Amino acid sequence: MKLIADTIKPNQAKVEVLAVFAFKGTPLKQIVKFMPVALQAECLKLSEQTKFTAKPKQTLTLATHGLLPSFLIILIGLGSNKQSASEIAENIREASAAAMQTASKYQANKLGIILPDKINNLSQSALGQACAQGLILSNYKFKKYKKIPKKPEPEMQETVFLHTNAKFKQGLKLGQIVSKGVILARDLVNEPSGEMTPDKLLKTAKLIAQKSNLTSVKSFNKSELKKLGFGGIAAVSQGSGEDAHLIHIKYKPEERKNGKTEKLKNREAEKLKIALIGKGLTFDSGGLSIKPSDYMENMKIDMAGAAAVLGIFSILTQIKPAFEVHGIIAACENMPGPQAIKPGDVIKIKNSKTVEILNTDAEGRLVLADALSYAVEQKIERIIDIATLTGACIAALGDDIAGIMGNNQKLVDDLIAASRAAGEKIWQLPLEPTYQKSLKSEIADLRNICKMKGGGAITAALFLKQFVGKTPWAHLDIAGPAWAEKPINGYTPAGAAGFGVRTVIKYLKNIN
Ligand code: BES
Ligand code: ZN
Ligand code: ZN
Repeated sequence: MKLIADTIKPNQAKVEVLAVFAFKGTPLKQIVKFMPVALQAECLKLSEQTKFTAKPKQTLTLATHGLLPSFLIILIGLGSNKQSASEIAENIREASAAAMQTASKYQANKLGIILPDKINNLSQSALGQACAQGLILSNYKFKKYKKIPKKPEPEMQETVFLHTNAKFKQGLKLGQIVSKGVILARDLVNEPSGEMTPDKLLKTAKLIAQKSNLTSVKSFNKSELKKLGFGGIAAVSQGSGEDAHLIHIKYKPEERKNGKTEKLKNREAEKLKIALIGKGLTFDSGGLSIKPSDYMENMKIDMAGAAAVLGIFSILTQIKPAFEVHGIIAACENMPGPQAIKPGDVIKIKNSKTVEILNTDAEGRLVLADALSYAVEQKIERIIDIATLTGACIAALGDDIAGIMGNNQKLVDDLIAASRAAGEKIWQLPLEPTYQKSLKSEIADLRNICKMKGGGAITAALFLKQFVGKTPWAHLDIAGPAWAEKPINGYTPAGAAGFGVRTVIKYLKNIN
């Protein structure tokens, strides 16, 4: 679908469906001014009859009876213009999604959107991003395995915004780019684990890197990982017939030409080395501590952290951070094959710490421990890990909200601020130091499950903390929001959500 910003007049726009976004409180008379008089009257009457007050997501549809080039007008409510930027952005995403859904329902090829003249708190760039994301992400479907469609569905060809602010146009472009990253992450997670193996994750990383000379990939396979001392990934993957990989994808910014450097908000940022670490369990059966079948049903999603990292890398050369970004993915399968790790086994992580494995289903922290140690070895200065790590995080925050914990409050705060702007929900949990003792083992440095009953999301994060040293680090537990059992909002349909891409991209852009 093409997104276009055009100076065309509303009553001349050759689109089949015309959506008009309206703030609550703006007199409707003003909003409908562009319509022929007869339609204005009908619209005002209908708005009274249906009590349309432009509440968020409220809609009013009106046939034009041939009085305009469009056959249908849809008014979509945005709520009050006095809300915060993040609230307005969310309502814009929802309104864009609603416009797309209605236009698709009527099999329109072209959709036109009229935006309010004045938006109080939201920048034009953020407006453009929200519009693009609402439209594109709401239209996502994972159709690959439906070879016989019920009936061919016409795809929306283009959406025309009757709004041409230059910053808005830039925002539209950026919103399209970010949506591409989200969609790749969704596609990778929706793919069954029989297809989306560790090899396939590696192949995806290589394909991404091939597209630009600013990105490169190196990787270690199962036997190399074993030899090199990546005891976590080696242990978790040993019960599986699939290979395992530590995937290291690297983005290096273009060298700056002498004298002609772009202005950076923060010169320091140029020297920064950030790592994004993804849990890439392409299937988590639980291993010998096998999961009950209803818990195992959806465990192809256990690579959603890795998918988010790859989604981000797929668009990074268009985002162009001024600093190095390293994607480190621990990709393997957790299976109960004959060689599988057993409860009671002791393993050694890359940084030489030993772990007594008491539950083979707490595998994410073992592979992440290797990835975190590796990042520290690479002299990374800031680490963000993204992982479907614990069911306990779902118990704490529910399906829609990710947990965040870290050893550096500024990094956590910045990520939370980025998530608000990006429209993803994350909430901080405390990294309670007194819980650390519940991870003590009698025979090793650590045990992989804690002795306490509750607080599983926190103790999992405390386990990870043992492997980051002093490096500023934040951990996103996305076990809940990685997958939408039912649609979360208008632009996150049921299935893989691509969670994390929007927040991290916003964060990276903010420090640029
Ligand atoms: N991959 C799971 C966590 C998970 C649960 C992700 C639900 C997505 C949805 C993880 O490896 C796991 O099994 N964690 C255990 C840890 C426990 C054994 C300490 C859990 O949360 O039950
Ligand atoms: Zn598990
Ligand atoms: Zn897992």
